[in-house]
Amino acid sequence: MARGLISLALLLVATAATPAISLAQSSSFVSADRRIAIDVTQAEKNHILFEMREFLHGLHNINYAMAKQDMKALATTARPMGALLDRIPPSLKERLPEEFTQMAIAFNEALQLLASKAEARAGSGEAGLRETHENIAEVLTYCSGCHDTYRFNVSTKKPRK
Ligand code: HEC
Repeated sequence: MARGLISLALLLVATAATPAISLAQSSSFVSADRRIAIDVTQAEKNHILFEMREFLHGLHNINYAMAKQDMKALATTARPMGALLDRIPPSLKERLPEEFTQMAIAFNEALQLLASKAEARAGSGEAGLRETHENIAEVLTYCSGCHDTYRFNVSTKKPRK
């Protein structure tokens, strides 16, 4: 009887835990890194990763501005974020894969669009905020797209042109 209750309890626990278990099983351990490596020096890597961490601060400010419905603050944050390529050291810029550069250009365009549209829609209520949210999501697709595709590899070899 006691044993029967224990098995029933275990069965219930197992059933209750099913969604979590299947989620864990579905995201199989990713051991292979298939991203394209871009050779950089340690200093170049430090520089770009600093820029990247600034992007997270930028996203924080953008979200905060959305919560306050302060489109001026949103635009003031979004505009300068876009010029990533201008802040990359020239030595590295000329070695970047063409697609990386294209993605950075499109990322900038998405940020400039977000800034100008948000300002134009200021005070236009719920619908305007929803559209601005969509523009933010568009910017994020470039963050993810680039991260899914590239990684930096610190190389001691003299970088190829
Ligand atoms: C054009 C390419 C590109 C874009 C756009 C981009 N990133 Fe990155 N980011 C990278 C690469 C490459 C790395 C390094 C990944 C690696 O080597 O594992 C990186 C690393 C990072 C890191 C890790 C920083 C650290 O100290 O390790 C953060 C955080 C980050 N990015 C945030 C963002 C955010 C937020 C956005 C969008 C607002 C963004 N990035 C847009 C290419 C990009």
